[in-house]
Amino acid sequence: MTKVITYGTFDLFHEGHYKLLQRAKALGDYLVVGVTTEGYDRARGKLNVVDSLMTRIENVRKSGFADEIVIEETVGQKISDIKKYNIDIFAIGSDWVGHFDHMSEYCKVVYLERTKGVSSTMLRNQNFKIQRIGIIGSGRIAGRFLMESKSVSGVSTQGVYNPHLESGRKFAEKYEIDCYATREALYDNTDLIYVASPHETHYEYAKDALLHKKHVLCEKPFVLEAGQAEELFQIARANRLVLFEGIKTAYCPGFNKLIDIACSGMIGNLRYIDACFTKLESETSRELTDTEYGGSFLELGSYCLLPVIKLFGKEYEKIEFESMYDQRGLDIFTKASLKCKKGLATVTCGLGVKSEGRLLIAGTEGYIVAEAPWWKTTYFEVRFEDPSKVEKYSERFLGDGLRYEISDWLNQINGNPKNEFKLTRSESIAIVGILQKFLEGEHRKGFPE
Ligand code: CTP
Repeated sequence: MTKVITYGTFDLFHEGHYKLLQRAKALGDYLVVGVTTEGYDRARGKLNVVDSLMTRIENVRKSGFADEIVIEETVGQKISDIKKYNIDIFAIGSDWVGHFDHMSEYCKVVYLERTKGVSSTMLRNQNFKIQRIGIIGSGRIAGRFLMESKSVSGVSTQGVYNPHLESGRKFAEKYEIDCYATREALYDNTDLIYVASPHETHYEYAKDALLHKKHVLCEKPFVLEAGQAEELFQIARANRLVLFEGIKTAYCPGFNKLIDIACSGMIGNLRYIDACFTKLESETSRELTDTEYGGSFLELGSYCLLPVIKLFGKEYEKIEFESMYDQRGLDIFTKASLKCKKGLATVTCGLGVKSEGRLLIAGTEGYIVAEAPWWKTTYFEVRFEDPSKVEKYSERFLGDGLRYEISDWLNQINGNPKNEFKLTRSESIAIVGILQKFLEGEHRKGFPE
């Protein structure tokens, strides 16, 4: 008996898939089909798969050609599958010519001509029109966003608006996009808006874009008052628009795995969270020269508060801030201590003090540690009283990680809300509430008279 194997995502099952399976089956007597998991596709940068794994498997099954369907979970699995299932022929579409030649050591490798004029990417683009993104603001993060948006199929960054025309123009030239002199022109030419302007302008810009019926992704810190956050979400809801806060950690696969494990009971009941993020910045950076809205807590607090809010909830009984200031009155180091119903938390942020950036989640039976840069989680350990018992977890984090929030934002705009739980409206509002408390509170005493 000749056994054949082939692999694919088989998203939005189409004629090309059908014909590929038909010809693969015809190469032998028994066909094994490997279907990729969502996690594997995400890890290799394929972020906009529409159909669930079950739907894709079901579609392959319905083709009638597969004698056996297996799950493809990791890179490198193909060779062990070939050995495991005693495969004689590995077949794949001609878009992969040359790529799998090394596997001829294990079995015959056959590249089958691709069916012309159809692909999942094409169908996704037909079903969901390409969304044109406009950026408000042209600082460092806007550049990173633009590069990351290129990894997300279904969006194209069209142009930028900056009230300082010269800055906008330079940015547009560098990234070869349009520069708009007015927000009206930006709205006329785009579908989605990414707000990457200075913190204190987020509210005004996000509101204006929403009122112009644009979906909005707003950089953190979202806004500076909880009431403003509530209002923006209300406008979005009333107009059926998707408003996301861009705390990239929230959408990062490794961080989501960490939260799942923290909630799983593996370390017992959660009692303490310690989140620290420090980043030494130059004296001339915006973070350390904007005496009104610079400083460490506004800059980094959202990242550190995220695990606290997600795991201990939105309510707290007590919160205290301690800060160290520079000569301009900016907090270069801030520690916030929270007493929540479920446990205690400390959140430490520094722009002028360097410390071990770490996320620690302690429970009644063990603890989780993720070292810096835990806000781009790729690795963490679960440890217990017995030091020899350590569980290790790793997850890929591609590029600057903004691609994950862009793709979740886009999926929700395209009517697929299954990722909304990663950063809910009420979690965003709660984080803003704590930033507001910090802004209104004692920290102002650091300002020179
Ligand atoms: N395939 C094919 N003809 C097409 C499209 C795909 O023969 N027109 C083959 C691929 O070469 C591969 C298998 O079908 O062997 C599964 O491909 P998959 O990546 O799932 O489909 P694509 O349509 O290529 O998906 P995408 O556009 O997301 O890359």
